[in-house]
Amino acid sequence: MLASVFLFSFLLYFPIVENLDNGLARKPPMGWMSWGYYMCGVDCKNNTEKCLDEKLILSVADKFYEDGYQEAGFEYIIIDDCWSQKKRDALGRLVPDKDRFPRGMKFIADYIHKRGLKFGMYTNIADVTCMGYPGSRGHFQTDAKMFAEWGVDYLKVDGCFVTEEYLNTAYIKLGMHLNATGRPMVYSCSWPYYIEFIHHKKPDYKSVAKYCNMWRNYHDVVTSWHAIKSIIIHYQMSYDEIHEYHGPGQWNDPDMLIFGTNSLTDSQRRVHIAVYSMLASPLLLSCDMNNITPYERELLQNLDLMAIAQDPLGIMGRPYQLQHLITIWVKPHLPRKGDMYNSVSFALVNLDEIEHSVSFTPGRYGLNSTDYTVMDVFTKVFLRNITLKDTIKINVPAEDVIMYTLYPL
Ligand SMILES: *[C@@H]1O[C@H](CO)[C@@H](O)[C@H](O)[C@H]1NC(C)=O
Ligand SMILES: *[C@@H]1O[C@H](CO)[C@@H](O)[C@H](O)[C@H]1NC(C)=O
Ligand SMILES: *[C@@H]1O[C@H](CO)[C@@H](O)[C@H](O)[C@H]1NC(C)=O
Ligand SMILES: *[C@@H]1O[C@H](CO)[C@@H](O)[C@H](O)[C@H]1NC(C)=O
Repeated sequence: MLASVFLFSFLLYFPIVENLDNGLARKPPMGWMSWGYYMCGVDCKNNTEKCLDEKLILSVADKFYEDGYQEAGFEYIIIDDCWSQKKRDALGRLVPDKDRFPRGMKFIADYIHKRGLKFGMYTNIADVTCMGYPGSRGHFQTDAKMFAEWGVDYLKVDGCFVTEEYLNTAYIKLGMHLNATGRPMVYSCSWPYYIEFIHHKKPDYKSVAKYCNMWRNYHDVVTSWHAIKSIIIHYQMSYDEIHEYHGPGQWNDPDMLIFGTNSLTDSQRRVHIAVYSMLASPLLLSCDMNNITPYERELLQNLDLMAIAQDPLGIMGRPYQLQHLITIWVKPHLPRKGDMYNSVSFALVNLDEIEHSVSFTPGRYGLNSTDYTVMDVFTKVFLRNITLKDTIKINVPAEDVIMYTLYPL
């Protein structure tokens, strides 16, 4: 009796902790972000190739709208660091760079919204941004209101230059100011990255998922196969720690895609997009959209692949390591074609520099139905029908991936 009274009051005073529910990012956000390729992009006179300005941002919106990216799910266009003047104005507000963004951010937001797309911006939780522009510390309310007035739909908040204690409170506070504006803004936090890799502590993912829609776990991507490989290995090794916080409204974020930067072979490109899709990661391009190769575009607009990345269940694919550098990733999704049972995707990933023969029995990975038909995600060919006992044996070339979706028959 006493115990149940105690239990009752416990429940009364400590309601079950819920994740941030602002109705946003029910699927992993897809889009484009300036940092990876353009970085600061302030030297528009001498380095026209990497100029972060209004013209660039509008041109990305046009590309999304005209070239099929929007239909494939690409939606958010995000301006990263270095967009403002070096000083706030007399009223303490951030001011967009007068030369590069002469018509201000509201103009850009309106243009993007007219195309049916969404607009994202950046700030840092400290006094200055990572690149030394004014940061939001001491201005959370002013900045949140201003982003809302400009029509911002997504805010990336970096975590340079502050203590661990401050990170653990400031992200919560800023999130409350964003909420108070009444404008829905996807809240992208770099919080756990800084806790783990700058302050060498364990991130409190429960708290992060309670206050953020997505968060960076690991180092900034750079444009090399080596970087992609190390990101993939990192997510594989941290699956147990992070997968339970991953799902609709809350996403682990391995950072931007490096398509359009001429840094991968076609097979490495397949591995890059296949693993990020299996992870149900946010998919943010960062490149001159004109430099995306025809094959990269085919991958980005492969609707069977994007359906895996954007599946409404939002399950982070689970890695099973078969041998050194050979991993099977498994990801269940909602029934796709009116089936009674879930369909399931398998990605056989070979990070090694030589070909490997892989054999696996799909029925051992939690399938519910008895018969499945196997589709190759890249060629869209239906290869064969299998039962739960059947084993599939296949050669996976060096630094490549074989990807199947199994539909119940
Ligand atoms: C603010 O938070 C409440 C409670 O979680 C939520 O229902 C609402 O959608 C949020 N509003 C915005 C604009 O984020
Ligand atoms: C850009 O070029 C001008 C004129 O050639 C030069 O004076 C200036 O220092 C250059 N700026 C940078 C950042 O290199
Ligand atoms: C099998 O069924 C269970 C419960 O109905 C479900 O949670 C799970 O996702 C299903 N698995 C697959 C691979 O369809
Ligand atoms: C799989 O089975 C379905 C239904 O029986 C059949 O229509 C289809 O041709 C089969 N596919 C293959 C590749 O054997």
